[in-house]
Amino acid sequence: MDKNKNKKRLNKSFFIENYGCKMNVSDSEIVTSILLKNGFLLSENLEKANIILFNSCSVREKAELTLRNRLDELQSLKKKKNLLLGVIGCLSKKNRDFFLEEKKIDFFVDPSSYNELTNYIHYSTIGKKYSHSTQRKGKESYTNISPFRIKKRVTTFLSITRGCNNMCTFCIVPFTRGREISSDPNYIIQECEKLYKNGCKEITLLGQNVDSYQWNDINFSDLLNILAKKIPMMRIRFSTSNPHDMSDDVLTAISKNPNICKHIHLPVQSGSNKILKLMNRKYTREKYISLIKRIRKIIPECSISHDIITGFCNENENDHKETINLMNQIKYNYGYMFSYSPRPGTYAYRKLQDNVPQEVKKTRLKEIIDLQRKHSLLRMKEYLGKIQEILIEGESKKNNQYWYGRNTQNLVAVFPKGFYKIGDIAHIKIIETTSATLIGKTI
Ligand code: SAH
Ligand code: F3S
Repeated sequence: MDKNKNKKRLNKSFFIENYGCKMNVSDSEIVTSILLKNGFLLSENLEKANIILFNSCSVREKAELTLRNRLDELQSLKKKKNLLLGVIGCLSKKNRDFFLEEKKIDFFVDPSSYNELTNYIHYSTIGKKYSHSTQRKGKESYTNISPFRIKKRVTTFLSITRGCNNMCTFCIVPFTRGREISSDPNYIIQECEKLYKNGCKEITLLGQNVDSYQWNDINFSDLLNILAKKIPMMRIRFSTSNPHDMSDDVLTAISKNPNICKHIHLPVQSGSNKILKLMNRKYTREKYISLIKRIRKIIPECSISHDIITGFCNENENDHKETINLMNQIKYNYGYMFSYSPRPGTYAYRKLQDNVPQEVKKTRLKEIIDLQRKHSLLRMKEYLGKIQEILIEGESKKNNQYWYGRNTQNLVAVFPKGFYKIGDIAHIKIIETTSATLIGKTI
């Protein structure tokens, strides 16, 4: 490469900072792939880059606030080094307009326009604004792009659907990511086979609502069955399932294929039918409990996790008690709990009142988090004395003499390294536990 060309390429070095969920991590790999193909260089850290992209999340208010602070922090560096700052991913319209008007960023690219990213960058470099036809908005599945795996990892993610058609009233995703679109199964199979050949041992299929995957006559359970047989030595996980769309065929696929992991993330959001209706979740508490019963019948060893929102519009003490009561009935293995934050543009923001005081939201959130911790400990104790197959992902953060990995139920385990190495499946006996980590010994 001649010197000039090299210099030119150096000006095009980029760095991506991720906010939000696994879907964003997965999207950053697609964006990296697009930029590399177009002659940009991936910088190993932010300081060395000329272009910094923030892959943003707007699902809850907190992530956008963090991004806002981060952008403020970088403004002086932006001026000094003439950096280009761009936001990609999900961003509420309010913040997008604010960031652009205040010139805190040079451009914003939504999740269906990544193929246009280089144009946005080019126009910003010459001080112009790029806008493109929105005809294909929400229709991009990026199946012509093989995600660039930034780090070679034992476990990784692959998006199989993008967008969402379920209009949960609290959720901004259908507005920021558009309507649901499924990826071609041939692309999914090819990517998984390639990953396996490159040493990846576990793949998590991602979608806002994976169970509604559909490509011609192939549905999600078909896809699981096909993949499990094509790559029998690869662990397969998926996330997330909306209880409304989960079919018994999917449960059967999990139970029949040993390489499909025995864990289901099944966000319930609330235990009260009144609140579920206000959230437009399309299932009732009773239907949800009946699904849990079917899961436990068809896959007895399955772990189940949840998402719960506390303090949604009109949630009273009684609704909150129903959530507590549901948690006590199910005793989830673990869960993610949030207090409701109204997102501009959503139905709840426009039509419902955010009328649960902040203090009450806080108290209720603490109560469910404490309860979940108790349940988690109880569930973890079920593994004491049992032998578990743990896929080793890396070193334990607390002790460098220990490995860290997960069992099929997605529960974290640590144990002395012995002769094992990263990527191995270790058989370990669980001898101790906390509410978050199983502690084992090699056998
Ligand atoms: N279908 C995706 C939803 C992504 S949002 C999935 O299930 O992963 C992830 C979680 O964030 C939701 O399940 C919900 O519990 C929470 N969440 C979404 N919007 C929220 C809001 N406005 N306030 C608080 N929590 C919210
Ligand atoms: Fe959001 Fe509901 Fe879809 S939580 S991503 S609208 S399933």
